[in-house]
Amino acid sequence: MDADRRREIIATQKPDIQWANEPRMGSYYGPEEFEAVRAEMERCNRPDVGFDAHNEVSHEFEDKFAEWCGARYALTVNGAGSGLDMAVMALDLQPGDEVIVPAINFKAAALAVLGQGGKVVWCEVDERTFQADPADVEARITDRTRAIFPVHMNGMAAPIDAYVEIAENHPHPRFGPPKVIGDAARSCGARLKDRRVGSWEWICVFSFHTMKNMTTLGEGGMVVTQEAGDAERMRKIRGFGGDVWGTNYKMTNVQAAVGLVQLGRIDTMLDQRRAVAAERNGLLAGIDPIELPYVPEDCWHSYYLYTCLVPEEWAGEKRDRLLQIMREEFDVPCVVANPPCYHSNQFLFNNTDHSDLPRSELLGQRLFCVPIHPQISSSDNEYICAALWEAVERVKTG
Ligand SMILES: Cc1ncc(COP(=O)(O)O)c(C=O)c1O
Repeated sequence: MDADRRREIIATQKPDIQWANEPRMGSYYGPEEFEAVRAEMERCNRPDVGFDAHNEVSHEFEDKFAEWCGARYALTVNGAGSGLDMAVMALDLQPGDEVIVPAINFKAAALAVLGQGGKVVWCEVDERTFQADPADVEARITDRTRAIFPVHMNGMAAPIDAYVEIAENHPHPRFGPPKVIGDAARSCGARLKDRRVGSWEWICVFSFHTMKNMTTLGEGGMVVTQEAGDAERMRKIRGFGGDVWGTNYKMTNVQAAVGLVQLGRIDTMLDQRRAVAAERNGLLAGIDPIELPYVPEDCWHSYYLYTCLVPEEWAGEKRDRLLQIMREEFDVPCVVANPPCYHSNQFLFNNTDHSDLPRSELLGQRLFCVPIHPQISSSDNEYICAALWEAVERVKTG
């Protein structure tokens, strides 16, 4: 994009909506969701029915979601955070047990491990995909490792098949191969080798929080698994236990009714995200020295986030200056998702060993995400790209 063209776009195409950070609303609702809420409220609004969880609407949502992502069992929950807790509870961690978690991550997975008394063993991520690096996972596995806990980072699938192979080659002496648990909070619909995330892992957890690829009125999530026994165990954990400990992690039926409609539209919304990303890749082609998102051939990116990198020489100060210009001069705030997550949570910082993660530390200073959303128009996309070119030129010239 040449200088004249980008100045013209910036002068004439400022978006009406401020596409900031990870936009607060990730998916959008149409008349069908409004109608689903009304119908479910009317159905439940009787003394002999009530707004309980797990009526036939919830069951239908679970069954259809499992089928869509290729898992055998699905359980609605009130958020991915609860779902990640449930997954770690199902591991039955013993004192001293270790779980490998990528450092470039949201905080929830590591908190779930510490919450169950496990030891978090951080690993590095691949610097182009931001996914847990299989070679580093293998280097950090021990005979105390009970699980490998990758996040499907920023909309793309992590190489689960590689982790499963590593796990099989390093069985725990008592519990066998470490389990592979997926955090797909940001990657609903992403695919690895033509299979959706959720079909690969022992347990995989999705978020339907307001910012995510599909949503259930602000909060919500889904836990999927391939194992009947684990599904049964987690159902108990979700609903006040029984022969195992449990509490209340349930999603309401009204949310499930909305989720069912969103599930019918998720493929369209993902195609919209991908179209915005494809158009943006074209608009930003040649934006030296920024690296645009890298997608391995066997991955189908859902583009929850559009994650870029500045060169090493720009790490820290110059990256931050770039984001400052984007925010202050062009009204396009970008998000850093994520620096090593022990920096954003004191509990993780105090209770884990993060002394040997040079690659993650550097990446945390280099990455940034440009706002993306299924409803970004071509005109708004052009504005965002013109702003980024302009900001990059200003950082270059000091
Ligand atoms: C990677 C990741 N895991 C877990 C969560 C937690 O999801 P929830 O808000 O549904 O509990 C988030 C939320 O942003 C996330 O990004």
